[in-house]
Amino acid sequence: MNESRILTEGDILLETLPTVQPVSYKTYGQNSGYEGFVKAITSNAAHVLENIKISGLRGRGGAGFATWKKWDMVAHRQNGQKYLCCNAAEDEPGTYKDRYLLRTNPHQIIEGALIAAYAIGADEIYFYLNGRFETEIQFMELALQEAKEHGYWGQDNAPFRTVFHLCKSPGTYVAGEETALLEVIEGKAAQPRQKPPYYPAMHGLYGKPTVVNNAETLANVPHIMQKGGLWFRTTGTPTSPGTMIFTLTGDIKHPGLYELPLGIPLNELIEDYGGGIKHGKRLKAVLPGGPSNTIIPEYQTGVLLDFDSLKMIGSGLGTGAVIVLSEDACMIQAAIEYARFFARESCGQCPPCVLGTAHLVEILERIESGRGSEKEIKQVEQVCGMIKGRGYCYLLTGASIVVESILKHFRDEFDTHVHEAGCPFVPLSTF
Ligand SMILES: Cc1cc2nc3c(=O)[nH]c(=O)nc-3n(C[C@H](O)[C@H](O)[C@H](O)COP(=O)(O)O)c2cc1C
Repeated sequence: MNESRILTEGDILLETLPTVQPVSYKTYGQNSGYEGFVKAITSNAAHVLENIKISGLRGRGGAGFATWKKWDMVAHRQNGQKYLCCNAAEDEPGTYKDRYLLRTNPHQIIEGALIAAYAIGADEIYFYLNGRFETEIQFMELALQEAKEHGYWGQDNAPFRTVFHLCKSPGTYVAGEETALLEVIEGKAAQPRQKPPYYPAMHGLYGKPTVVNNAETLANVPHIMQKGGLWFRTTGTPTSPGTMIFTLTGDIKHPGLYELPLGIPLNELIEDYGGGIKHGKRLKAVLPGGPSNTIIPEYQTGVLLDFDSLKMIGSGLGTGAVIVLSEDACMIQAAIEYARFFARESCGQCPPCVLGTAHLVEILERIESGRGSEKEIKQVEQVCGMIKGRGYCYLLTGASIVVESILKHFRDEFDTHVHEAGCPFVPLSTF
């Protein structure tokens, strides 16, 4: 894990964290910890929901879905068993933000989860942590114990009778998908459910209404409750309020975690915070939202990092994993890396996913090694078109759009590989 994070002005979620030791209950309390929860339970659930609606908070787990809408769907279901799940499975390449939040301030996430559970009327909360995060799991166990000792959960009386469970994800990419998460908690294999009909809000954990929220999403909630929904809107853009923790990696001088207002220009993140490209090289392309969103060529890097600006140019913010590629990068190799990742991470449940990702790898490897022709380039296009939107989850679409966008923006590199019968960069086999 890269721990070279640089505190920036305007930090909210990471503000009080000068070290990588977790903040204790005492320190958290001295910094207004659990005040948001106390405010929530001394008002009412409808008021909490309204505050989250006013804040405009959107999910930080990938899709940017409005948090209040998700909560509202479950809050309005008949009383009875409901669940809240905190998703900290985080296994996407180039994303370390949830891990950092868990490692440094688990109480912030616990408090956010307690407020969310209160708002939707759930009294069971599952923390779903990447099973490989051994240190973070220990920190979370300790923080949960501290919160219990101070009476915030596990008591006899409402609203303090909430029960927490800690569940380890198998540490695969697909295990973070929200319905695969439900399957794992139920003791089954990490395989997504078909949506529709199995939306968590309607048919979630053990068939009951369930909200699944990302850890960073929940970490924002105590601050919103404490300072108000309107306060939250003073940062970010009108449709993407607040900050986001960007994980900046790749060919960058200062990789690390940067919490910045949503709407910051991508090139500002790269130049002013990341220090520009390593070894004085030129920027070639950026994946602004991890491997499941389209690539952005250099000329589009003035785009603002918010949900809607990226959508407008056909890309996405995802989890804020910004991966930078320099002029030295071979774009066919980049496409291979991502295609291999998706092929490896396919859960095996949907044939188009297993076969489609493997086929993409095979064709791309042929092109990279100089054994490709115009036919192979056409095939890349065709396979991407065929697999898009297939399968139970977004994995296959993610694979198709990233490769397709590399082909669209860097077609000349595909042509060069074919015409020169090989890779003009450092060939993959020598890596
Ligand atoms: C293949 C795949 C992997 C995912 N992995 C994660 C993950 O590790 N953590 C996460 O919060 N969301 C992940 N998601 C998104 C979740 O399905 C879900 O949308 C998210 O947890 C909702 O939280 P939010 O509304 O707070 O963003 C993944 C989605 C897909 C398709």
